[in-house]
Amino acid sequence: MCGIIGYLGEREAIPILIEGLKRLEYRGYDSAGIAVFDHDRIEVKRCMGKVSGLENLFKTGRNSASVGIGHTRWATHGRPSEENAHPHTYEGVAVVHNGIIENYLTLKNELKSRGHHFSSETDTEIISHLIAENLQAGLKPLEALRKALAKVEGSYALAVLIESHPDILLAARNQSPLILGLGNGEMFVASDSPAILPYTRQVIFLEDGDLVQITQSQIKIETQSGASPSRPIHTISWDDSQAEKGGYKHFMLKEIFEQPQAVADTLRGRISVEQGDVFLEGLEDRRENFLSAKRIYLVACGTSYHAGLVGRYYFERFCLLPSEAELASEFRHRNPIIGPETLMILISQSGETADTLKALREGKAKGCPTLAICNVLGSSISRMADFTLYTHAGPEIGVASTKAFSTQIIALYLTALALARDRSLVSPAGTKDKIQELLKIPQLIKKCLGLDPEIQMIARKFSGFQNFLYLGRGINYPLALEGALKLKEISYIHAEGYPAGEMKHGPIALIDREMPVLALATHGEGRDKIRSNIEEARARCGRVIALVNEGDEEIAERVEETIAVPRTQEELQPILNIIPLQLLAYHIAVIRGTNIDQPRNLAKSVTVE
Ligand code: G6P
Repeated sequence: MCGIIGYLGEREAIPILIEGLKRLEYRGYDSAGIAVFDHDRIEVKRCMGKVSGLENLFKTGRNSASVGIGHTRWATHGRPSEENAHPHTYEGVAVVHNGIIENYLTLKNELKSRGHHFSSETDTEIISHLIAENLQAGLKPLEALRKALAKVEGSYALAVLIESHPDILLAARNQSPLILGLGNGEMFVASDSPAILPYTRQVIFLEDGDLVQITQSQIKIETQSGASPSRPIHTISWDDSQAEKGGYKHFMLKEIFEQPQAVADTLRGRISVEQGDVFLEGLEDRRENFLSAKRIYLVACGTSYHAGLVGRYYFERFCLLPSEAELASEFRHRNPIIGPETLMILISQSGETADTLKALREGKAKGCPTLAICNVLGSSISRMADFTLYTHAGPEIGVASTKAFSTQIIALYLTALALARDRSLVSPAGTKDKIQELLKIPQLIKKCLGLDPEIQMIARKFSGFQNFLYLGRGINYPLALEGALKLKEISYIHAEGYPAGEMKHGPIALIDREMPVLALATHGEGRDKIRSNIEEARARCGRVIALVNEGDEEIAERVEETIAVPRTQEELQPILNIIPLQLLAYHIAVIRGTNIDQPRNLAKSVTVE
């Protein structure tokens, strides 16, 4: 949560900071702020709400500063307000922060006892006070930062401006993501790469405990203990245009329509029809770890957890392994019985979700082999796991996850297939069949996207309801959860996803003319049973929208609305089924006039527990 950016170079910093913050707004949008040099003084501008409000503050007056820091906030400590907006300044030290300082109250009280006054309710402000004190005691900037952070417990990604040193920028990372961007005569620091993609693709991923001093020509990285670690330079393969709307009204819509390409990119180079085989780069070297697994734990949050629920079917069906999908936020509060024979699969688009990261740490501590399925190169989860399978979906900016979901499912499918092959549970001919079906998926997704006009009509009819029930069985159950999540996230309609077999154990009491029921009734084991659930809902005047396979007239005749998707193998059907559910949520939200890419109270990357 929260996005930070810093710039030091020769160009005007403000437009770069504003544009960068707009690209980081998916991380939070409760308030925004910037600090730059105005001649020899630090000038700070902050406002409640979005970066566009901040931009307006700079419309009058000119500031050609070429060094600055910026922040877009998702409130944790202190309500969203201008006073609590970052940067926080004290005696010529301005700080932007993503993370949580856990011992801030103790430190604040200590500082107060030394005569410090605070102007915000945030945990962050103490950092500017601590650095300022250290500078006043005569320490050099990097030392002042080091000494301040030695007192701090918690997570942080920081960028710091110091009035007495206008030619440097300081940064630090601990458990919150931070990258450095290396330009030509200019340097950047940012929470995520889309913020700096227009200027450079050369980046350094900082590690926990890194402290950085940046000048126009040099980056000095040190650890808390004073060592100088070597941090490799990586080249981001994402294209800048991928982080723009490209003519679509919203990022979410663009990302829904990108799915044929995103799925093709996840598959690229990983399958061969001729050889009937799957190649997962790097995984081959660690086969032993994965082969000895007697059990699979898929751990994730939000949409990624729903992908994990789909993945569970693959590992059970293809690999005959006991498999559990777990919410990362709950995982650590039990006593999960895991160890070297448990393969832990962490699924995360951002690779930064705090709970998933903590679960990964716990798994590693207990000796589990770990595999991350991530989209963001160099993210914390991908670096900590033994092995990472990237989804290669390109940047996902819309807060409601779409293409991440379909590509995660593909990655899980490939992993299960590779494991089944290694265990001799699938023949080359069987693998070949599956690969041939996989190759058709991008084209079939395109067909599903062609349903858009029909779905818009359904959205018009149903946008006024206050509740929705999504029902699915078997592999469609996670889809019911995901469809409902999409609707509630962006349209603020209360929507529940339920296993259809449980309908009679409670939700049926809610069904009447005011309760639309979306039934996932595509082919497979559960299809006939869900047909009965549809009848039961209709008998109580429920208004049923059924998602069926093309040609399924039997169900179409019995419901108010039908959405017919092409048929594929049962295991891959979720990737097609999710498309109309994403579109339906999107169009209902458009009609209701909500903020689709940045729904209220949500953030794309939940980096606090
Ligand atoms: C947030 C986002 C969701 C996402 C979830 C997990 O809640 O709004 O879209 O599914 O975090 O994020 P991850 O990056 O770990 O997949």
